[in-house]
Amino acid sequence: MDRITLDYTNALASTIGPDHGVQESELAGMQGVLSEAQEKVESRRTLDLRWLDLPYQSDVHQEILRYAEEVQGRFENVVVLGIGGSALGNRALHSALNSPFHEMSPPSGAPRLFILDNVDPDLVGEFLDTIDPTKCLFNVISKSGSTAETMSQFLIFRRALIERLGEEGHREHVVVTTDAEAGVLRPIVDAEGYRSFIVPEGVGGRFSVLSPVGLLSSALVGIDILGLLKGAADMDERCRSAQWNENPAMVYAATQWQMQECKGKNIAVTFAYGHRLRDLADWYAQLLGESIGKVKAGPDGPMHVGPTPVRAVGVTDQHSQVQLYVEGPFDKWFTLLEIGQHDHRVQIPADFSDKDALAYLGGRTLSELLAAEREGTRIALTEANRPNVSIQFPRVTAHTVGQYMYMMEYAVALMGELYGIDAFDQPGVEAGKVAAYALMGRKGFEQRAAEIQRQREKESRTV
Ligand code: PA5
Repeated sequence: MDRITLDYTNALASTIGPDHGVQESELAGMQGVLSEAQEKVESRRTLDLRWLDLPYQSDVHQEILRYAEEVQGRFENVVVLGIGGSALGNRALHSALNSPFHEMSPPSGAPRLFILDNVDPDLVGEFLDTIDPTKCLFNVISKSGSTAETMSQFLIFRRALIERLGEEGHREHVVVTTDAEAGVLRPIVDAEGYRSFIVPEGVGGRFSVLSPVGLLSSALVGIDILGLLKGAADMDERCRSAQWNENPAMVYAATQWQMQECKGKNIAVTFAYGHRLRDLADWYAQLLGESIGKVKAGPDGPMHVGPTPVRAVGVTDQHSQVQLYVEGPFDKWFTLLEIGQHDHRVQIPADFSDKDALAYLGGRTLSELLAAEREGTRIALTEANRPNVSIQFPRVTAHTVGQYMYMMEYAVALMGELYGIDAFDQPGVEAGKVAAYALMGRKGFEQRAAEIQRQREKESRTV
């Protein structure tokens, strides 16, 4: 049975001592607040938290699969134009579930996938210099339908297509994923006649990976989206358990809260032990950071809350970060993502067996080495009293990745209640967007532009 599991033994005081570990009784003591949090989240399931029900939208899933079948073989490349919640999940799914060399050698019939989540001219310009847009299907993804980065890319690639294929011909190279009504993209879809998918109401950007936002590009590159959704649905069932220690999302949310609020661990490191899991850690960094990093009213004025998410990759970062993690400040806690069984078996040749420094490797597999390195890090962290939990993927499959993503979304929703903040807005992101609109001269943002100009005229110090 490929159920993912959460092992929190090494976060407990009984393992790493009471200064840095949490007492199991403290976690159990949170049963009441966790149940309350769960009730609040569940009461919004059919209202503004409809992402909870994304695993069950079978009409939408079928529509996506039909479209993927319809366009199969027609495009060499699928290009996602999106950013933040409209890109990170797509990348996480692709790197977890497809070959790391997919772009060099896609399986027959499958397109390559490029995710352009930056407006760096050296990225977009190089893409234009390298890839023929007439061989691409551009999936423009924007929930709000107005994000400057995504819209500017849309304008650039639309023009490139029109120049080569004409007004009519360019249309089949664009598929849009956006809100049913909001923003400027939807009226453009209607006017241009682009194929489109809907980001449903009640599904915010960073909670949208299981909607057409993440599913469409995944289906196009051959990911088993039904397996992914089944994994999410199976985890949904586990997350609805009322008993804290039978519910992985409750255990994870409670541990996060205890670590920060009671043990002073302001940094949450996701240490992905496996190349394929690295972008899941990146996806989670956004989910946690944007959802929980908030200001709220406190008794003595504003209170700024939220853990700082950090992503590390094993074994790579053992040779870069682990020194800090084992001996540096006690301000972090760790989530190790681990893989039970890899798809490949790579054996190390037993050459130079007369040399002790190499002989022990001969005949062993890379999975054994990776596991030993991971265990080594876990032991080092634990012996240094650094709290760590492990999420084990029996294998990396669509089903286990679906479980992981749903579990983390649910856990973050619970954390929102525990921290007493709104986990589903992002005023800090909006503030940056508004300032950028003002600087770029968008109509309606003149006053903000004037404020920024006044600010800029103040004295500055530069060396
Ligand atoms: O989680 C979020 O809401 C954000 O990260 C958005 O996904 C990001 O800002 C992109 O927004 P949009 O999809 O509206 O273009």
